[in-house]
Amino acid sequence: MSITGKLAVVTGGASGIGRAVCQALARNGFRCVVADLNLEDAKKTSDILEKTADGKHSAVEVDVSNGSSVASLFAKVKEFHSMPANVVVNCAGITRDGFLLDMSETQFDQVVNVNLKGTFLITKHGAQEMIAAQIPGSIVTISSVIGKTGNIGQTNYAASKAGVVGFTKSAAQELAKFNIRCNSVLPGFIDTPMIATVPEKVMSKVEGSIPLRRRGTPDEVAEVVHFLASENSSYMTGSIIEVTGGLFM
Ligand code: NAI
Repeated sequence: MSITGKLAVVTGGASGIGRAVCQALARNGFRCVVADLNLEDAKKTSDILEKTADGKHSAVEVDVSNGSSVASLFAKVKEFHSMPANVVVNCAGITRDGFLLDMSETQFDQVVNVNLKGTFLITKHGAQEMIAAQIPGSIVTISSVIGKTGNIGQTNYAASKAGVVGFTKSAAQELAKFNIRCNSVLPGFIDTPMIATVPEKVMSKVEGSIPLRRRGTPDEVAEVVHFLASENSSYMTGSIIEVTGGLFM
C-alpha cells in the first residue's frame, strides 16, 4: 500500500464549513474524502473540488454517530485511495435548540451523539489507521465558541462542543507519541445553513456585538483548518483556535 501523498477525510463535507474545508485542502494538493450523511450533496462537493495531480476525490456516506458506519467509511477510504488518510477533519455537526426546561432526552442525545460521540468515533478510527500505517497525522476538530460561553437554548449544543475541547486536548496528549497532532477550531457565527434559522433580529444584535461587526465566511474558518492540517503547524498540538471576529474573546 502506498502511503505517499496527502489524503484528508472531512466529515460534514457536504455543506457549509466542511465543504469550504474540502475546497481549501484540495487547493493545497490534498485529495479529499467528502464524508457526510447526505451523499448527494457530498458528491456535489467532490465534483467542485480542484483536481489534484495524484488522483481524485471521493464522496462516502457516513453517520458519524454510528460505530459500524464509521468503520465502513475508513475501510472504503483505504480501498478507494490505497492509503489511509493523514488528515482527518471533524466538521459534521447539528443543533436541536430548545430551552433546558423543555428539552427532550432525544434532543439532547441527538446533539451529543453527532457532535461529541461522532468526533470520538472518527478520531479513534482515523488515528488507528495512521498508527497501523506508521504515518504522522493531523486531526482537527470543530468545536464552537458556544462551548466556551454557553448560550440560551443550547445546553445540549454547548455541552457537546465543550466536550469536544476536552476530548481534543486528551487525544492530543495520548497521540503525540505517534506523531499525530490534534487541534480544535472554535468558530463564532459563520454564514452557513446551520445559522440560517436564527431570526434576522437576533442575528443583527449578535453582529453588533462582534468586534469585526460581521459574520464570518466558511472560507475564513477553512483557511485556519488548512493551517492546522498542514506542516506549517508542525509544533502545535492540543491548541484551541478561535475564529470569531473577536466575539467573546
Ligand atoms: P451545516 O449544517 O452547513 O453542515 C453540517 C454538515 O454535517 C451537513 O452536511 C450534514 O449533512 C452533516 N451531518 C449532520 N449529521 C451528520 C451525521 N450524523 N453524520 C455525518 N454527517 C452529518 O453546518 P456548518 O455551519 O457548516 O457546521 C460545521 C461545523 O461547524 C459543525 O460542527 C458546527 O457545529 C460547527 N460550527 C458552526 C458554526 C456556524 O456559525 N455555522 C459556529 C460554530 C461551530
